[in-house]
Amino acid sequence: MEIFYTSKELKERLSEIKVRNKMVGFVPTMGSLHSGHGTLISRARTGSDVVVLSIYVNPTQFDNQHDFKTYPNAIQADLDLARSLGVDVVFAPKTEDIYEGVPNADSVDYGDLTGAFEGAKRKGHFDGVVAIVRRLFQIIKPEKAFFGEKDLQQLAVIEALCKREFAQLEIVRCPLIRDIDGLALSSRNVRLNQKERLVALELHRTLNRLKAAVNRSIEGSVTLEAARRALDSLDGLELEYLAIIDAKSFEEVGEEKWNEGHAVIAAQVGSVRLIDNLFMG
Ligand code: PAF
Repeated sequence: MEIFYTSKELKERLSEIKVRNKMVGFVPTMGSLHSGHGTLISRARTGSDVVVLSIYVNPTQFDNQHDFKTYPNAIQADLDLARSLGVDVVFAPKTEDIYEGVPNADSVDYGDLTGAFEGAKRKGHFDGVVAIVRRLFQIIKPEKAFFGEKDLQQLAVIEALCKREFAQLEIVRCPLIRDIDGLALSSRNVRLNQKERLVALELHRTLNRLKAAVNRSIEGSVTLEAARRALDSLDGLELEYLAIIDAKSFEEVGEEKWNEGHAVIAAQVGSVRLIDNLFMG
């Protein structure tokens, strides 16, 4: 496994690889890798000749400086995992290199996709995501890029970016991975204490209950409202949103089509902001 810390060296190496007509699969991450990332890497491994993994905690996508400063870092374990899963090239750049100076992100407007839910709650978040992913795509020029459905709205934003600016690039959707207790895997979960983790489990339980209700055609709006109220009444959990949306447009879907939508949820538990989602069909 080769590790590059500058875009110049990485580009030189990748141009040698591309001369040999190798198909590059790219997995962008912010490090602190878990089995969700492992799934992305494994999918990339089977679907490409050369697997490139980036590890970079992107400052422009954080709306909360405390979250940025406390974002977990586990570079040595990340490199060990990457090696064990057959990653060929790791790119771990510095901010000066990636942003060519001061980090900044242009504002992006893809309608509800960037403006609703995560876009509304985390101002500037998708500007930062688009800025870094665009930059990484320009440097690495992959044929395929692998993203997890845990960040469902991010995935839809990246697909919209590709449609506009990287038409040849295939975005591969990879499933959300849960821990044994049902909590959606996230690098930030390590910041939950035992009590908070128990509270956090209510997110996926709520999604499961909602799915069961949608499939039994129980009166939908009543179920959704009841679920919101139940979460609101929990000690130690602050619900941000719970809604059923179309996974491509992120517009809310009418009750008659709930079984074609995804329920999306975001809540603050302790110092950790959690998101989760589940297909309702
Ligand atoms: O999903 C993530 O880890 C990040 O948002 C990404 C896509 C690596 C961009 O920084």
